[in-house]
Amino acid sequence: MRIIVGITGGIAAYKVPELVRLLKKAGHEVRCAATEHALEFVTRVTLETISGNALYSDLFASGRTEHISLKDWGEMLVVAPATANIIGKVSNGIADDAISTLLLAFSGKPVVMAPAMNYEMWAHPAVQRNIATLKGWGIRMVGPEVGELACGVSGTGRMAEPEQIATYIASLSTFNFQLSTQKWLVTAGPTYERIDSVRFIGNYSSGKMGFALAQALADAGADVELVTGPTALTIEHPRVKTTRVESACEMFAAATAVFPGCNGAILSAAVADYRPAECANHKLKKQGDEGMHLDLVQNPDILATLGGMKKEGQRLVGFALETDNEEANAQRKLEKKNLDYIVLNSLRDAGAGFGVDTNKVTIIARDGRHKESPLMSKQEVARMIVETTAL
Ligand code: PMT
Repeated sequence: MRIIVGITGGIAAYKVPELVRLLKKAGHEVRCAATEHALEFVTRVTLETISGNALYSDLFASGRTEHISLKDWGEMLVVAPATANIIGKVSNGIADDAISTLLLAFSGKPVVMAPAMNYEMWAHPAVQRNIATLKGWGIRMVGPEVGELACGVSGTGRMAEPEQIATYIASLSTFNFQLSTQKWLVTAGPTYERIDSVRFIGNYSSGKMGFALAQALADAGADVELVTGPTALTIEHPRVKTTRVESACEMFAAATAVFPGCNGAILSAAVADYRPAECANHKLKKQGDEGMHLDLVQNPDILATLGGMKKEGQRLVGFALETDNEEANAQRKLEKKNLDYIVLNSLRDAGAGFGVDTNKVTIIARDGRHKESPLMSKQEVARMIVETTAL
């Protein structure tokens, strides 16, 4: 793979030649790019010698648009160390040096960042907001780790070691492009079922699991139809088409329309089983001491409908969110809805399920095979699900 290593101005830049060496040893072609500040910590000569290629650092070299030719060349961009400064710039669309221009131009291809900074800077809400923005765009973060920092204190902010970054990159490159002739449907997020013009019945799904699945499938080369309920998340990926819906009925219509043209579907949305029988087009008034009664009618079961539509060769993967009798309930859903796999997550596992960045799942195959994950980031869980059910 052709990898660009982008270096920004943090003390951890001195470790980057080792990362370049490891990537070259693993058979990758490497070209380095660095900001002026990075070159205070690591020399041009070292980077050019170890990578075997000229370094790109001068944005204003006469008559050249090197960030464009370099981004065309690269199949992956790794920014290590990624300072609070570069993270802030890119999340706000600023492009004023060698690395920020590359990052803005590098669309549709994997980007990995290894953040490194003082622990208080890392904890600052602005940095955390910027990291969330970048993750929402599909940029992967390796680290930062907890440990001794350049300022002499210990905390979260240490750049992941070169070996750790190289191992992560190896896992990404084996994963890439195996589904490049395929199209997959993913459902994500909650559904909102309107009661009146200001209220709805909903649930706590954030969409994080479903968006991570869409990203993982796209990373594996698939075109993805992402049908999502209400969420603030966005995904910027040329192979992901996002359709935003509100209710279960809208999600049903969107999912059933695209499924016949798909090789498979992973349904992670938390769909409301019931909706109000009637939706008032004004704000309902208080009903007084007697309370208020809502008549609910059942929503269509999207997963079961796709199970009925499924043709030879199509794969169908459902989720089961359980609180008790987890495996038995999941197994029952797998059979009843005609699935190939079901991904069980239990609300009894701390750090799993709604809203959080992590999950812990058991993937149950139709033939009874089980695969359990530890508690991992939703991105890692999504990759495991895609590797197990789609590749
Ligand atoms: O979005 P996050 O905050 O990241 O949280 C992720 C998650 C907890 C929502 C996700 O991991 C998850 O468990 N999703 C499924 C939640 C759920 O509704 O489970 P269920 O057991 O009620 O439904 C079983 C399956 O049928 C699911 O695949 C669901 O998408 C599907 N279903 C359910 C009802 C319905 N009317 N139509 C459906 O397609």
